[in-house]
Amino acid sequence: MAGDRENFSSRLAVIMALAGSAIGLGNIWRFPYMVGKHGGGAFIIIYIVCSLLVSLPVFFSEVVLGKYTRRGALGAVRKVAPKWSWAGYMGIIASFVITSYYSVVGGWSLDYFVRSIFGGFKGLSFEASAGIFASMSASGWETLVCFFVFLLLTAIIVAVGVDKGIGNFSKVMMPLLFLMIVLIVIKSMSLPGAKQGLEYLMKPDFSKLDGPGIAAALGQSFFSLSLGVGCVLTYSSYMKENEKIVPTGLWTALFDTFFALLAGFAVMPAVFSVEGMEPGAGPSLVFETLPVIFSRMGTVVPIIFFFAVLIAALSSSISMYEVVVAWLVDEKHISRKKAVPLVFVAAAVLGAVCAVAPKVFSACDFATSNIFMTLGAFVFSIVVGWIMPEEAVRSTFSNRIYPFVRFLIKWVAPVAIAAIAVTNLL
Ligand code: PHE
Repeated sequence: MAGDRENFSSRLAVIMALAGSAIGLGNIWRFPYMVGKHGGGAFIIIYIVCSLLVSLPVFFSEVVLGKYTRRGALGAVRKVAPKWSWAGYMGIIASFVITSYYSVVGGWSLDYFVRSIFGGFKGLSFEASAGIFASMSASGWETLVCFFVFLLLTAIIVAVGVDKGIGNFSKVMMPLLFLMIVLIVIKSMSLPGAKQGLEYLMKPDFSKLDGPGIAAALGQSFFSLSLGVGCVLTYSSYMKENEKIVPTGLWTALFDTFFALLAGFAVMPAVFSVEGMEPGAGPSLVFETLPVIFSRMGTVVPIIFFFAVLIAALSSSISMYEVVVAWLVDEKHISRKKAVPLVFVAAAVLGAVCAVAPKVFSACDFATSNIFMTLGAFVFSIVVGWIMPEEAVRSTFSNRIYPFVRFLIKWVAPVAIAAIAVTNLL
């Protein structure tokens, strides 16, 4: 069986696929807002420290698990630590739930991309824009159709296969995504709000950096690197034997952070170019404020921006979808061609509920990003740090860095995650 398993054909495909999973809506609407809210440059410093000391070790743990077992989330955990199998199931469920509600937002970006092509935002006022968003998200059929099409696009890429579908899509789309966001940054930086926007993002204010701020930095870093739900684990199970995992991890984290900063440089100057505008988190920023500002810069800018949002969302949704498909293929011995439609039907049902019931949507978001991801990340580091045979872990790293990485996986990551989880509960 193991010999038949699919593989990514090149290092570039692995890095681009991992970067694709990491770079998503979290970078575009969550990161810029979190930075501004939690002390600008001070938050960025803590974010980078958390990424290096906690997230990267968790990332490496997932890579080790996937690469060593050549199985998806459940098979991998079950093979090395049968008692912790529940964490494998949890990863699959979390990935499934994220696929469903994330695709609703993916559907909105598809809707906005199509609207921008037809010049739907020309001369738009802020009130009218808020009205468009409210009526779109409240109108059952429009949201549902766009959600289905987005989910279908995700399913098609996954159905084509690991290398030909996910790998090729990522190799072409990720560089294009960078190019698009750089173009928007250049445009945005020429706006009158550029200085204020940059200040909001970069000026360090250490007084705002309290316990919740640090917890937010770690949470954002987990979400952004797609950790704790088995995405990195599953993609890593398709790596070739000789893949160098430390540089791969570092490149992914670097691309992800760089992209988040670029998104901040694209979004914040635009927001501050309007008198009295406050940067709001989430959908209101991307779908209400930005269409107005970007459409004032010409017809093409909103088209590029919403295409970028769409691609970023798609490259992430395929990674969650693949976690569920890998489970059906590895553990239930169902072919990929059959597994993909099965997941589609199930995700279409849950997603449709999320699309029309905002409370279900928020509950899914809260449970996955605050509970499942943290718990999953904790378990992956414990399994690799404490339970897996040490030889298997050692052979993945060079002798020089192994002791350091081991210390991070075994002690720093689980202790930091537990400490932050406890602080959040108190
Ligand atoms: N990393 C993605 C983003 O930033 C979200 C994601 C979470 C993707 C969990 C996969 C798994 O948008």
